[in-house]
Amino acid sequence: MRVVTTVSEVRVALDAARARGETVALVPTMGALHEGHLSLIRAARAENDVVVVSIFVNPTQFGPKEDLQRYPRDLDRDRRLCGDAGADLVFSPAAEEMYPRGFSTWVEVEGLTDGLCGRSRPGHFRGVCTVVTKLLNICGPDRAYFGEKDAQQLAVITRMVRDLDLRVAVVPCPTVREADGLAMSSRNARLTGEERAQASTLYRSLGAAKDLVDAGERNPAALEDAIRAVLVEADLGEVEYAEIVRVDDLTPVTAIEGTCLIAVAVKFGGSGTRLIDNIRVSA
Ligand code: PAJ
Repeated sequence: MRVVTTVSEVRVALDAARARGETVALVPTMGALHEGHLSLIRAARAENDVVVVSIFVNPTQFGPKEDLQRYPRDLDRDRRLCGDAGADLVFSPAAEEMYPRGFSTWVEVEGLTDGLCGRSRPGHFRGVCTVVTKLLNICGPDRAYFGEKDAQQLAVITRMVRDLDLRVAVVPCPTVREADGLAMSSRNARLTGEERAQASTLYRSLGAAKDLVDAGERNPAALEDAIRAVLVEADLGEVEYAEIVRVDDLTPVTAIEGTCLIAVAVKFGGSGTRLIDNIRVSA
C-alpha cells in the first residue's frame, strides 16, 4: 500500500487505474482510525477496484476554541490499519497542500447546516464541504463512503453532491459501536474513566426513544423528555441538544411520521469532549 502527500501523485496513480477501466473509491477521514473507519474501508474494498483513504485533520472545520491542536494523530498506525483493511492508497497531505497561500474559495450548504451541530459549530460544515469537494475533485472517485454516525454531515454532503452535480455516489455506512453501545469515535480516547462510564447513556437514551416509538408514541416532545431522562444519568455531561428531525432536510418534526432521525449531543466538561450519536426511527 502506497502513501502519497501531493495532489499530483494522487492524480497520476488514479489516472492510471481509471485508464485500465478500474473503479475508484474514496474514504475521507481525519485519521486516528478505529473500527468505524475500518468498516468504511472494508465496504469500499468490497465494491471497488481501487480504494483511496484520505487522512487529513482539516483545520478549516475546527472552530477557534475547538480541539484542532489536541486532535489525536498517529500516521504510522493509521497507515498499517489502512493496509490491513485493504486500502490501496493513502493520501495524507500537509495543510499547505490543501490550502495554499491565498486560498479563498468555499463551499457552503445553506439551511441543513443551521441546526443540530451547526448551531454550536458555526463554519464547521463549510470547512467539511470545502475539503470534501476538494478531495472528490482530487480523487474523482466513483463512490465515496461516509458514516451514519455523523448523520448531519452525511445529509449535508448528500445535498452538496446533488446540488453541485458532483459525479460520485455517496455510500452511507452504519454506525459501529463499542460493546456498551457507545458509538466509536476518535474523541472517545480523550474521555476520563468516569466520563467513559457515563458515555453509554447517549445510546441508551436513543434506545429509550426508539422503544417508545415502537410502542406507538408519536409526539416528539414526549420522546425528547424520555431521552433527557436517561441523559441526566450522565451528570458529568451537559446536553447540547436532543432533537427529532426529518431525515432528509433535518427540520424538526411535529409528529413522528415516516423515517425520522433522533440526534443527541453531550459535552463532557471535565475533558472537554463533545460526543454525538443518532438513530433512525420509522413509524
Ligand atoms: P472522521 O471523524 O475521521 O470520520 C471519517 C468517516 O468515518 C466519516 O464518514 C464518519 O462518519 C465515519 N465514522 C466515524 N465514526 C464512525 C463509526 N463509529 N461508525 C461508522 N462510521 C464512522 O468525518 C470526518 O472525519 C471529517 O469531517 C471528514 C469527512 C473526513 C472531512 O474532513
